[in-house]
Amino acid sequence: MTPISSLHRPRRLRRKSAMRALLRETGLRSTDFLLPIFLVDGQGIRSEISSMPGVFRHSIDSALQLCAEAEAREIPGVLLFGVMDSQSKDAQGSASWQSDGLVQRASLAIKEQFPDLLVLADACFCEYTDHGHCGVLNTHQDRDDPATLENLQRLALSYAEAGVDVIAPSGMVDGMVQAIREILDAARHENVAILSYAIKYASAFYGPFRDAADSAPSFGDRRAYQMDPANRREAFRELQLDLAEGADMIMVKPALAYLDLIRDVRERCDFPVFAYQVSGEYSMLRAASQAGFLDWKGALLESLLAIKRAGADGIITYAALEACDWLS
Ligand code: PBG
Repeated sequence: MTPISSLHRPRRLRRKSAMRALLRETGLRSTDFLLPIFLVDGQGIRSEISSMPGVFRHSIDSALQLCAEAEAREIPGVLLFGVMDSQSKDAQGSASWQSDGLVQRASLAIKEQFPDLLVLADACFCEYTDHGHCGVLNTHQDRDDPATLENLQRLALSYAEAGVDVIAPSGMVDGMVQAIREILDAARHENVAILSYAIKYASAFYGPFRDAADSAPSFGDRRAYQMDPANRREAFRELQLDLAEGADMIMVKPALAYLDLIRDVRERCDFPVFAYQVSGEYSMLRAASQAGFLDWKGALLESLLAIKRAGADGIITYAALEACDWLS
């Protein structure tokens, strides 16, 4: 490092706005963001999620309007989640892999109207199973990973057939990336990419999402498959495994409480790294702003900038549209 003498005064470089702009090391642009969309069955539905003010569940027609807004702001893609009513759920989550399923229909509709917008789809079962766990359970009420992987292959294939560009497995099932890559390649969908939620912690910050997607486990929790928030080295093993299995891109989740992991992963691999500003992070900032304790715009942009500065190539955020409106 260059030695710094007491003659240096950092403030010289901060006093003027033009100087600050010239010397700014990190920036946000609309192409950094991906917008998650919660889908519901029906027509003309746009219902606000009580624990996530400003975020809505959309029927496909309404989701298409949101896609138009995303495209107008040059957001490169949307990440789809299906929200099921309780009659559509079963022990396996079979509604997830139907060719006329909610996410599949939405993807086809988006591809038809917005062929240049990337469609990413979350691949997990917790929104589709009647017990709310991320896969099939065995008789001991523990997740049966081989059976879950088979279902994940069904799900991946149905997504690829519906034109999904990027499959994002989020269930932390060992071997999930390889299982998906194998079925995609065998079915000649070699151009479909995998964004693995490789480093996903068992986090309290998913609370509002589970309300939004009605996906909270009916018993127990997800600590038997998601990572322990106390662990760092374990993340590197997850990273290596998913890259070895063929992941094209890696996700760290949540973002703000795990900036150290974003930085670590950035330094340890040359693959694109994404960070998910999860529901709890969004709601925390939103609620505090609504109460008048924080400035929403300032706090949001600062948190997104921090995620970028930590080393993320892209950020999944519920506030993508608003953030874009405030850039530049
Ligand atoms: C599905 C999934 C979850 C999230 C993304 N995919 C919930 C969970 O693991 O319980 C959380 C996203 C958020 O909190 O915004 N497994």
